Amino acid sequence: MAKITTINHVTLIVDQLEKAAEFYEQILGLEVIPAFVFDYPTAFFRINDQQQLHLTEWEDQQSFRGHICVTVDDFNSLFWQVKEMGIIDIKPWGKLRQLPDGAMQLFIRDPANNLLEISSPPDYQVDPKIFEDEFYQEGLYVSGRNDFRGYKSEDATLYHGGDEPKK
Ligand SMILES: [Fe+2]
Repeated sequence: MAKITTINHVTLIVDQLEKAAEFYEQILGLEVIPAFVFDYPTAFFRINDQQQLHLTEWEDQQSFRGHICVTVDDFNSLFWQVKEMGIIDIKPWGKLRQLPDGAMQLFIRDPANNLLEISSPPDYQVDPKIFEDEFYQEGLYVSGRNDFRGYKSEDATLYHGGDEPKK
């Protein structure tokens, strides 16, 4: 049986390629790399040696709660920046939180309205002022659905140790 080994790239659908590309370059620090010569608007970005982000312009419908989660190396400065920009979205998954494994969890919208989860590694030194911010809330997000199906544990983590980027 085949097994998935890595996530190679994530493709986000955007309504305006140049505007979205500027956001991923300027706000999230990604480097543009060459894309294949497709006959539609697209841009590729290097995340690391194994992973890319692809943006492509189409008029598709977007998901309200579906998201990609990215780990950033400077969660503190990004939090204050996206707060200032007004792009934090607490509607799908609630406010900024610290997960039980210590990782921070923040949801923002890109210029094309794609939902991004911003994560910090569990051992990251969070600016204490963030815990006093109006966007911060303690504990896991509670949806009110009271439906506990799934595979769950108090020991869950987004970071298994090993090759995750530190700080
Ligand atoms: Fe997530």
